[in-house]
Amino acid sequence: MRLVRKDFPILNRHIDGKPLIYLDSTATSLKPQMVLDAMDGYYASYSANVFRGIYKISERATSCYESARERIARFIGAKKKDEIIFTRGTDESISLLYYSWALPHVKADDTIVTTIMEHHSNFVPWQQLTKSKGVTLKIWTTDANGELNLKDLDSLITRKTKLLALTAVSNVLGTVNPIQKIIGIVKKLNPACLVLVDAAQAAPHMAIDVQAWGADFIAFSSHKMLGPTGFGVLWGRRELLEDMPVFNFGGDMIKEVHRDSTVFADLPHKFEAGTPHIAGAIGLGAAVDYLSGLGMDAVREHEIEITSYALGKLSEIRGLSIVGPREAICRGGVIAFTMGGLHPHDIAQILDEDNICIRVGFHCAQPLHEYLSIGATARASFYIYTQKTDIDALVLGLHRVKKLLG
Ligand code: ALA
Repeated sequence: MRLVRKDFPILNRHIDGKPLIYLDSTATSLKPQMVLDAMDGYYASYSANVFRGIYKISERATSCYESARERIARFIGAKKKDEIIFTRGTDESISLLYYSWALPHVKADDTIVTTIMEHHSNFVPWQQLTKSKGVTLKIWTTDANGELNLKDLDSLITRKTKLLALTAVSNVLGTVNPIQKIIGIVKKLNPACLVLVDAAQAAPHMAIDVQAWGADFIAFSSHKMLGPTGFGVLWGRRELLEDMPVFNFGGDMIKEVHRDSTVFADLPHKFEAGTPHIAGAIGLGAAVDYLSGLGMDAVREHEIEITSYALGKLSEIRGLSIVGPREAICRGGVIAFTMGGLHPHDIAQILDEDNICIRVGFHCAQPLHEYLSIGATARASFYIYTQKTDIDALVLGLHRVKKLLG
């Protein structure tokens, strides 16, 4: 994917005279010119509100906003664009489900299942239900390789299970979970159990098809897939979304308001109160066009190649220990590691002297770190613009870290 690098203006700039080695795409991706142009085009040429004006630029804004919804729906294999709810990101998508699906639907006797590898956004809400509603939370743990054993589902999913909430790809272990297989097993064990997939680390990196998966809800963020920050998606099966009460109150999520009653709007608008992030939708629309142009199979292939190269090179560093599956084919483009007793923050700081950007800490997955009995980890993550020379720079940088601190 060498050719894509020219599309990312930030990669053509130097910082303090040195090139940028960006290895933190799991935290947020860089943005291609096409996305910047689409957003700038909205602000520069037709920055009116949507659904409200009957003048040309407002109609254009509405049509671009809704066309983005249509293309995003197609990108994930959704049946209808009305099943795409625009949110502020994965966290808000899952919080919406907490308030509008879980609180009205779950009872003290129910069980929710999640996994130990979840990002806090798909862990904390279900943990909070144990306190607010007294439900039982079961946590599906991984084997020594960082993978889920599908046989565990036999004991985890019972008639009382209302929801399985799991990630498609771990943002720390890198594990790619076999979502379609898992959902198939869950629905056999309990057809009434709903499945929510956190696709924040999957939608940017591989082809996904919510119908083929058989999922009930999925959530993902724009900024991890070349789009702007502060924008994301909740997809749900239409009948489930229709049955859920509204989340936020405000403008444009209503049909009629009288002194004593309100009639709420239809999907998806009943969940989208107020003036939305119009440029966000237009930016994400451009991002999915860009990714579709590359082809998601090619995106995945590139990441497997880079991850495989990085796994090989990092394993050669004495004292460096990688968490998660050993083979690139079983992982997304993310590698978290520890280096003996070295503090990850010191590692990141020294790498930053050469503009090598990695993330360190718990990566919003503290229960996983506790389960693995490790402290904070350092994490390098890759995307379409990552090249082997970036990995070489990381390896050189880590040798320098060892020399300075080891
Ligand atoms: N969820 C993002 C990460 O893993 C921020 O870094």
